[in-house]
Amino acid sequence: MTTKYRYKLYYGGRAGGKSYAFADSLLFLGRMNKLLIACMREVQESIKDSVHKLLSDRIDWYELSDYKVLQNKIINAVTGTEFIFKGLSDKSAQNIKSLEGVDIVWLEEAQKISKQSWDVLNPTIRKTGSEIWISMNRETENDPVWQAVALHPDERTLVVKVNYTDNPFCPEEMTYLAEKCKNENPRDYEHIWLGAPLSQGNNRLIAQNCVYRAAKNTVFAENSPLIIGLDVARFGDDNTVFCFRRGRKCLRFESYHGLDNVEVANRATFFIKTYNPVRLFIDAGGVGGGVADILFDRGFKRIVKPVMFASKAIADDRYHNRRAEMWDELREWLCGEQNVSLPDDDSLFSELCSVGKKYDSRGRLLLEEKDEIKKRLGRSPDKADALALTFAAPVYETGMQTEIPDNSWESIFRTETGNSNNEW
Ligand SMILES: Nc1ncnc2c1ncn2[C@@H]1O[C@H](COP(=O)(O)OP(=O)(O)OP(=O)(O)O)[C@@H](O)[C@H]1O
Ligand SMILES: [Mg+2]
Repeated sequence: MTTKYRYKLYYGGRAGGKSYAFADSLLFLGRMNKLLIACMREVQESIKDSVHKLLSDRIDWYELSDYKVLQNKIINAVTGTEFIFKGLSDKSAQNIKSLEGVDIVWLEEAQKISKQSWDVLNPTIRKTGSEIWISMNRETENDPVWQAVALHPDERTLVVKVNYTDNPFCPEEMTYLAEKCKNENPRDYEHIWLGAPLSQGNNRLIAQNCVYRAAKNTVFAENSPLIIGLDVARFGDDNTVFCFRRGRKCLRFESYHGLDNVEVANRATFFIKTYNPVRLFIDAGGVGGGVADILFDRGFKRIVKPVMFASKAIADDRYHNRRAEMWDELREWLCGEQNVSLPDDDSLFSELCSVGKKYDSRGRLLLEEKDEIKKRLGRSPDKADALALTFAAPVYETGMQTEIPDNSWESIFRTETGNSNNEW
């Protein structure tokens, strides 16, 4: 059984050097062995749409006189390597059949490739040792090739992110445009220059730029009471997540995999005793209910507050259920006037921006089903749910905790990092 990569997927924003790197690598491989290389994209109305021009420019640049550039293909006169150029949406029988002997397929602009095209192409590339090279700038979370290849990569799949900041040849003009965009429109910058997928239109509850801004902010919140949100894993592949928030600052997350109820309750007990939260809100639908029972039994009734996501909202006229209400509180916290801060964490970013909103027949806010989110995200939004739980009920800043206790989360973090000037 070969351990060679079958899929090599490079993704990122503009000017990461993906196309040049693929072109150069393929040209050099084609000088060493006889290869049939298919350069494909979803639509190729004429050869001008393809990477034919880029390959021939690179051949000229390196003065590779063994390559002959023909109108519709490029051949190597020494090794017999052949580059062919095709559009996947052109599905004549001849088109697909000619791909069976291909050694390497280069899928350029793979974010445009339809699921149908991918499902036909993938099993057609069947020669022993054949490879599929993919270059893409992610469009949305649902790009079919991304979903098929990168969502759950196995040991024969290489997924690499490259951005203009990784490209040593990035032209100055491009860096200028990128930096300008970063200052003027961080949301576009994330997508165009850093390769973040766009959320699906305007039906997302939380706008990316709010999350982006919060991840870059520095906020001091030592005097605000500590609130913990605890989202208990429902299924084997979910995580149990604790979120720690003080007022305008989300401090950090603690995630665990495969804990039983008693183990979750033990972690919660440790956090309560060590960090003195004023509240620990726990998602008590499903297995979380059992954890709440154990914590009640241990005498934490004043602090531990069970929350049922599916139950009636406090503002029942505005929200379909508690889950929608908490998430909307979270949205207001993130997108309001006050500066707030979040850990700079990619998975949190995509979870927060992935939740779609709808309205029920009474015009009340309703969130997209968890199953839907999970399908798109490839996992449950556990961290984001834990953060949303910290908004289950208002906790007033009573000034109860004006000093950081020696055993507080902050002081421990300080010791861990060895940085006594840390804002914690
Ligand atoms: N090996 C190289 N030698 C010289 N210049 C390079 C090289 N690689 C990249 N560049 C420069 O960087 C620019 C961006 O590279 P490239 O077009 O390969 O990026 P990309 O990731 O495919 O971006 P896009 O998403 O815009 O297609 C090129 O236009 C070229 O100017
Ligand atoms: Mg490119």
